Amino acid sequence: MFENIQTPKNLIPSDPRFGAGPSKVPVEFLEALRETGTNLLGTSHRKPAVKNLGKGITEGLRKYFNLPENYSVVYGNGGATLLFDMIGLGMVESKSYHFTCGEFSKKWFKSHHKIPWIDAEEKAVEFGEGQLFGDASDIDADMICVTLNETSTGVIIDDLPVINENQILAVDATSGGGQVACDLSKVDCYFFSPQKVFASEGGLFVAILSPKARERALKISDDSTRYVPEIMSWKQAISNSDKFQVYNTPSISTLFFLNEQIKLMNESGYERVVQEGKAKAKLVYDWAETKSYLSPFVKEQRFRSNVVCTINVDESLPVDSLLKKLHDEGVVYGIEAYRKLGQNQFRIGVFHNVLQDDVQKLLDLLTYYLEH
Ligand SMILES: Cc1ncc(COP(=O)(O)O)c(C=O)c1O
Repeated sequence: MFENIQTPKNLIPSDPRFGAGPSKVPVEFLEALRETGTNLLGTSHRKPAVKNLGKGITEGLRKYFNLPENYSVVYGNGGATLLFDMIGLGMVESKSYHFTCGEFSKKWFKSHHKIPWIDAEEKAVEFGEGQLFGDASDIDADMICVTLNETSTGVIIDDLPVINENQILAVDATSGGGQVACDLSKVDCYFFSPQKVFASEGGLFVAILSPKARERALKISDDSTRYVPEIMSWKQAISNSDKFQVYNTPSISTLFFLNEQIKLMNESGYERVVQEGKAKAKLVYDWAETKSYLSPFVKEQRFRSNVVCTINVDESLPVDSLLKKLHDEGVVYGIEAYRKLGQNQFRIGVFHNVLQDDVQKLLDLLTYYLEH
């Protein structure tokens, strides 16, 4: 239905990457990497050039999140999916409790549920809905799990659960980390993969641990009755990260891009990054609310993401062919609905590096097509 419409040149965004992750890596980062020439890629990750990247990442995140002195920054290979298992195997004593609202929060719950020697319980809401956590201190579980930004639906959290001194609060911050407001001093294990707000590549995890989470992880690591594969050992991850190292060989370019992005985000500071995300998301939600054929998928405003905006489109305008056309032209990448959600929907990533002008152009371009 859109094949014969020509894309107006003045509505083409300066960069086509609006996906929900991997997100836009600035071309300047690629140029900066090229400038390292023979001194970084292809050198040992146990030598200063790479260890300095680890130091930059650790210190940069401490500054960005204003972390309490006694918090640890831990990283390793495997991404957030590996951490789902690593947390279940090595940080839960006997039971985890999961607030779920979409594919990723459910995936985390399911990974714990499969581990025979712990219990996992789920409190689910419909996809597209958020939930308020309130007081979780009475819940009979030693870990409470929440997802900062549910990437499949574009739902963020609005509060943090209140926990007791024996509980660990773990937050999957994969797609919202750094851009969705969150007081990390109230979180014990805040983890993410760096290919979203942090504009790097996948395959790495970063976990920011409170002393309580660190102590729990080290205690379970020392429990000889529990088998945990060495690649998922918290002890290995923590002791290596303390020395700005990664247990096994990391992707050096991933560390490089992550460090560049942290430097960039520190120029603005956390609060401004959050606000800029909100301003871009507001453009998208306001647009959806003024058009009769659009509506925000997330009905309650306080749960609408300032990172990934999901917008339903009237069934009379099937968007698949439009998105394929824009993709083939190299004009817009990656704004399809989450594949398993099966909605006629746009899912637009407004991560830190996506320019506000480009968001506006994207909306104007979609309007042009949908109203043509
Ligand atoms: C909220 C959330 N958690 C976990 C993951 C898994 O991350 P990874 O693919 O880096 O393992 C994703 C990926 O998109 C995500 O969005």
